[in-house]
Amino acid sequence: MARALTPGTFDPITEGHLDVITRASQLFDEIIVAVATSERKRPLFSLEERCELVRQATAHLPNVRVEPFDGLLVEFARKMDAGILIKGLRAITDFEYEFQMTALNYQLDPELETIFIMSPPEYMYLSSSIVREIASMHGDLEQFVPACVRAALEAKFAE
Ligand code: PNS
Repeated sequence: MARALTPGTFDPITEGHLDVITRASQLFDEIIVAVATSERKRPLFSLEERCELVRQATAHLPNVRVEPFDGLLVEFARKMDAGILIKGLRAITDFEYEFQMTALNYQLDPELETIFIMSPPEYMYLSSSIVREIASMHGDLEQFVPACVRAALEAKFAE
């Protein structure tokens, strides 16, 4: 059984993340969406809120489950018995950062494979930070995030 992890901060999950998770779910038996605490990034949504939004957005994908994690990704992958990391790759600006993380993860655990799935053109420049900015200015998010996330962002910025 091939189990893969799709890690990220998901603050919040976007249609771009969902595209990668959906593609991955068609390639592997089981996908664990690993939601990082990422405290240094001071997320807008709490870890519980981010996990819940990912759960709602992926509820239609039967072989996808969501788990929070803290600490090193390679250790969490080992704990979950997952041998593969799936990362989304967007525009060229992602490359340096992803390249660095992949190289270090390979050194930390040579057994753990990293596979990249390229984003389609419509999600090439989409990011959670841009989504948060648009939401803070009450812009239209329909094409960028699932409906549950739109509602959560509207509630957050109505506060
Ligand atoms: O969605 P993001 O914020 O770009 O995801 C980054 C994430 C969570 C995958 C990365 O920060 C991570 O792996 N964090 C866990 C801590 C860790 O293992 N750090 C060393 C990576 S080389």
